[in-house]
Amino acid sequence: MEQYQVGILGGGPGGYVCALRAAQLGLSVVLVEGDRLGGTCLNRGCIPTKALIKSADFWRELQQVEEFGIRAGESSFDFAKMIERKDRIVHNLVLGVEQLFRTAKIPVIKGWGEITEAGRINVETETGQVSLKVENLVVATGSTPFRIPVPGANLDGVMTSDHILDEKTLPEKLVIIGGGVIGLEFASAFQALGVKVTVVEMLPSLLANSDDEIPRRLTSVLKKRGIDIFTKTMVKEIKSAENRLITVVENAKGIQEIFSDRVLLATGRKTNLCGVNAQRLGLQLEGGSIVVDSQMRTSVPNIYAIGDVTGKAMLAHVASAQGMVAAGHIAGHQVEMSYRAVPSVIFTHPEIAAVGATEQELRTAGVKYKVSKFPFSANGKALVLGETMGTVKILANEEGVILGSSIMGPQASSLIQELVLGVEKGLNAEVLAKTIHAHPTLPEAIMESAHGILGKPLHLA
Ligand code: NAI
Repeated sequence: MEQYQVGILGGGPGGYVCALRAAQLGLSVVLVEGDRLGGTCLNRGCIPTKALIKSADFWRELQQVEEFGIRAGESSFDFAKMIERKDRIVHNLVLGVEQLFRTAKIPVIKGWGEITEAGRINVETETGQVSLKVENLVVATGSTPFRIPVPGANLDGVMTSDHILDEKTLPEKLVIIGGGVIGLEFASAFQALGVKVTVVEMLPSLLANSDDEIPRRLTSVLKKRGIDIFTKTMVKEIKSAENRLITVVENAKGIQEIFSDRVLLATGRKTNLCGVNAQRLGLQLEGGSIVVDSQMRTSVPNIYAIGDVTGKAMLAHVASAQGMVAAGHIAGHQVEMSYRAVPSVIFTHPEIAAVGATEQELRTAGVKYKVSKFPFSANGKALVLGETMGTVKILANEEGVILGSSIMGPQASSLIQELVLGVEKGLNAEVLAKTIHAHPTLPEAIMESAHGILGKPLHLA
């Protein structure tokens, strides 16, 4: 029987990063994956959605080129080609990860693995059962979309993010159930491509965990673009009639029926414990997720868990960070997982990004704080780009130490990183304000917002 120091179940951004790191640290590693390497993030999530969003953004921008002095003439798009491009990107990235594994000489056992005891993974491969003896086991089996238990949730045309990007044609009308991250990224992209989108959210606001201001501003932007948004609305049933789907919803106005060609379920994800016999192993679970400590150890010696199965922030970059910690700990290093400064990004248009505390969290905790907001409408580069919507908001304690930030606006996904460093290192806003920022650039809006914490931004009347 083959023997390894580390055996990893699941090859997503948690598992594959853990494997590469463990190999770098000189450990013998094996990874078991039933599908392609890269997991949800690479194959069905982060990367494919962003590829489609780029196509949608191009199309949106093309409608505005006259403002930039360009006459583009007749233009049209081919959705199937957009999907092909997305598939090519995913394929190339998967090949890249496979190449990394070959270079690092990490064997990948292709098949669905099962763990019934510590120290062993049994894998059902195409050529039969393989049994691996592993000193340390890392569970990295991810999560799957949660299908709400309403009648009709399994009808044809009702899909999750796992499959909607396999479609070769665009729907005319799309109902999205769930006004969270996945729902709104799809709403923004599909609306840009001309689809009539309706979002149904059961809570009083979209993006319930964001800084209060974000959902308010985003709702207004999306509504102006023609997206129908129902909040405080429950889905009762999905029916099918004459090739159309009817989503029956209920809110304070009573029962309503929304017609569409497709329904996207974006109502959260649930941890995936397939192949992990948690009870038999004695793994402690909480709300269906595997309980781990800050070294990613589970309650069973020599079994680690990383990524979405741990029920922490279900984000690829968190899974990867956890994978690095697990590998480091197995190799005997002093490592610890910290969730102090986890960036979250929503690739709507405009983009949204956040880190650290929200204003309502600080209010609830009774923390005295300062707040500063700098609008992109006062930033030269944003004007040049024609993207002036949104602000950089910084929250700091009374001494000026950065506690959190939310950015809505152009390239918020990249801009947030300066604030992530600020929160991670407990920097004072003064550091950002006094650091020279290149001109003309979008990060100047961060510098200006930091000046606002100290007193007043320069370029704001
Ligand atoms: P989510 O938790 O962000 O949003 C789900 C939404 O559905 C919530 O607002 C919830 O109130 C609503 N909902 C639940 N049941 C409902 C019902 N019966 N009727 C109406 N509304 C209902 O989950 P989402 O958007 O599915 O994303 C799953 C995970 O994937 C999240 O952890 C998210 O952070 C992550 N993700 C991250 C991305 C990124 O970093 N850009 C992109 C996509 C997903």
